[in-house]
Amino acid sequence: MKKEKYNVAVAGATGAVGNEMISILEQRNFPVDRLKLLASTRGAGTKLEFKGKQYTVEVMDENSFAGMDIGLFSPGGSVSQKFAPIAGKAGCVVIDNTSAFRMDPEVPLIVPEVNAHAIAGYHKKNIIANPNCSTIQMVVALKPIHDAARIKRVVVSTYQSVSGTGKRAVKELENQILAVYNQQEIKREVYPHQIAFNCLPHIDVFLENGYTKEEMKMVNETKKIMEDDSIRVTATTVRVPVFYSHSESVNIETEKKLTADEVREILSKAPGVVVVDNPKKSEYPLAIHAAGKDETFVGRIREDESIPNGINMWIVSDNIRKGAALNAVQIAELLIQKYL
Ligand SMILES: NC(=O)c1ccc[n+]([C@@H]2O[C@H](COP(=O)([O-])OP(=O)(O)OC[C@H]3O[C@@H](n4cnc5c(N)ncnc54)[C@H](OP(=O)(O)O)[C@@H]3O)[C@@H](O)[C@H]2O)c1
Repeated sequence: MKKEKYNVAVAGATGAVGNEMISILEQRNFPVDRLKLLASTRGAGTKLEFKGKQYTVEVMDENSFAGMDIGLFSPGGSVSQKFAPIAGKAGCVVIDNTSAFRMDPEVPLIVPEVNAHAIAGYHKKNIIANPNCSTIQMVVALKPIHDAARIKRVVVSTYQSVSGTGKRAVKELENQILAVYNQQEIKREVYPHQIAFNCLPHIDVFLENGYTKEEMKMVNETKKIMEDDSIRVTATTVRVPVFYSHSESVNIETEKKLTADEVREILSKAPGVVVVDNPKKSEYPLAIHAAGKDETFVGRIREDESIPNGINMWIVSDNIRKGAALNAVQIAELLIQKYL
């Protein structure tokens, strides 16, 4: 018999994504029966609120998942690598925000607006992966265009906020801004260079091919989510001194010609997308407007005049919400509607 409520564990509850997952479970009135909040020994003991009740964060260990139905994970890659399979074996379906399982062929990589049907494969490991934040917002906008005109190539440059690196990075930007104004020494712990008033073309580690791991996540995850290995993708990912929301300049080449108006029309009907595109009034998507919102905002839609079938656009979304916590909760909603 179908349950009316589910036991939910939030792993990484004290972090940027974990905190947002708790808020979104409440905002969307997810049918939670028992809620368990988990972190490391650092965060254990922290009190967090859900629906007016205080919960004490517990240390995550091998026994944390007995009796839990759903695990919303964001504790960092190596921690997920260890604990997600343990949770899965205990019968708790894990929705993991880290990169640990995204390219595992036995783990679905899901953006509900794009490939919800692929959730069906979750039972192989009882793990579903949530894609990289920059990839999620891009594919939400690309999928309807791909369906209409087949995308051959994507060139993306990102302008990613510091909250994408977690709560310590948010503090680092705050502290550095204050230090600059107060003419004090700039301290850095999270980033290799000062992030305040600067742009770093370096997200995650550098790989042998000269790209960063973040750039290759955008390349590989896009193909997996769109279920089309023929799409060619190249990315440059940049960290900018913005607190919340990632912005992206995206250039696409399609097989069939689409005008800018046709793309606007397609995107205005796409789930999860809002077109904000009125340059005469200086209206286009902005990080400060997207922060705290659920939608992915697209604007500056124009034809790429350097090739026959090309479109340029500007895509902005809240990386903590659609890029992580919201997407994970949307997956959980589909899971309980259709599969659990
Ligand atoms: N921020 C984003 O926009 C975003 C988007 C998509 C995916 N992600 C991914 O989500 C993960 C978390 O990101 P975040 O931004 O939320 O980072 P964060 O703010 O640094 O939070 C990390 C969380 O993991 C917990 N944790 C660390 N080690 C642990 C352990 N051994 N056992 C249990 N919990 C542990 C921390 O708890 P303590 O309080 O105990 O330290 C904290 O709750 C990362 O893998 C990140 O790549 C982030």
